[in-house]
Amino acid sequence: MKTFLNLRALMLTLGMTALAAQAQESFKIGLILPMTGQQATTGKQIEAAARLFMAQNGDKVAGRKVELIIKDDGGIPDAAKRIAQELVVNDKVGVLGGFGLTPLALATAPIATQSKTPMVVMAAATSIITEASPFIVRTSFTLAQCSVAMGDWAPKNGIKRVVTLVSDYGPGIDAERFFKERMLLNSGQVIESLRVPLRNPDFAPFLQKVRDLKPDALFVFVPSGAGAAVMKQFLERGMDKAGIKLIGTGDLTDDDQLNDMGEGALGVVTSHHYSAVHPSAVNKKFVDAFKKANNGMRPNFMAVGGYDGMRVIYEALKNTKGGQGGGEALLAAMKGQIFESPRGQIFIDAQTRDIVQNIYLRRVEKKDGELYNVEFDVIKEVKDPGKTK
Ligand code: DHB
Repeated sequence: MKTFLNLRALMLTLGMTALAAQAQESFKIGLILPMTGQQATTGKQIEAAARLFMAQNGDKVAGRKVELIIKDDGGIPDAAKRIAQELVVNDKVGVLGGFGLTPLALATAPIATQSKTPMVVMAAATSIITEASPFIVRTSFTLAQCSVAMGDWAPKNGIKRVVTLVSDYGPGIDAERFFKERMLLNSGQVIESLRVPLRNPDFAPFLQKVRDLKPDALFVFVPSGAGAAVMKQFLERGMDKAGIKLIGTGDLTDDDQLNDMGEGALGVVTSHHYSAVHPSAVNKKFVDAFKKANNGMRPNFMAVGGYDGMRVIYEALKNTKGGQGGGEALLAAMKGQIFESPRGQIFIDAQTRDIVQNIYLRRVEKKDGELYNVEFDVIKEVKDPGKTK
């Protein structure tokens, strides 16, 4: 009897120790970001946003400490995959996040599936990404969402003959395809489709070709960080003066670079899900806090993807009492989330795990001495038009 009681006491102590250990063990979020290389500004924006979110919301959720681990993939898919493996196996992260480029997200998807670790895509924007693993949830956007909006707007606003110029990989191909489909549907024309390499692009020969073709407009998709180079060369060639309009997805007039693009950018119309001057109280608070914490740096759409991604993770942690039930429970708690983001109302579609959000038409204007993408129209609650199932 005595032995039995002792055994019970021992088991109780052991059990309590295990519980206490679990409560003390931090929940780790592993963000894999391009902190160096061509996409370094994407990493910088998302890191700043994630740190701001934690500064505002604390580093404890449901009594469990949250730890952020940030790793640099340099924009290299093999590196992203290897880092994901290390984060899951060695660091035992509960969630993976980040993914600054489509190939980085696609390379990592099998790790999320095999380890049943939710993977929050905060930047990459090719439609197929969410189909690469049932553990992927997206808080960025898709090029299909934005390009359909522009393919509807342009032909209804006197832009009938267009040349497209896109980076030659996933999101660029999506942008080209969905823009063209909608142009044709609206009795517009795409007279030429040009693709420029993702790595170290030289836009000059492509722009020369566009000048010779004299379309009503040039539609551009380039990833975040490349827009200023396109704008500079477009203006240097006097293409605006030759009567060719510049349009595109909002990656072109990225808030991270827009203010340095000069007055030549005035009037450029783009379609996107986020502008730093989106007129809402939530956004104003976000932009002010972000600038204050980052030496005046203006947040761009990457920052918002990171900020909202952290919120999705925090809410899932709350709803699973600190991550109880593991990756599958966390994933279930991410699906169907709905809240007001700095970009407006957003929704994580439980079926597709992709984001449903407003897409805005915006024009570059000067406000208080700075260049901004000023929203003038909205298409509400846009689901990704690029899903294959
Ligand atoms: C992707 C990267 C970007 O920087 C961007 O603006 C849009 C899409 C991507 O690789 O998916």
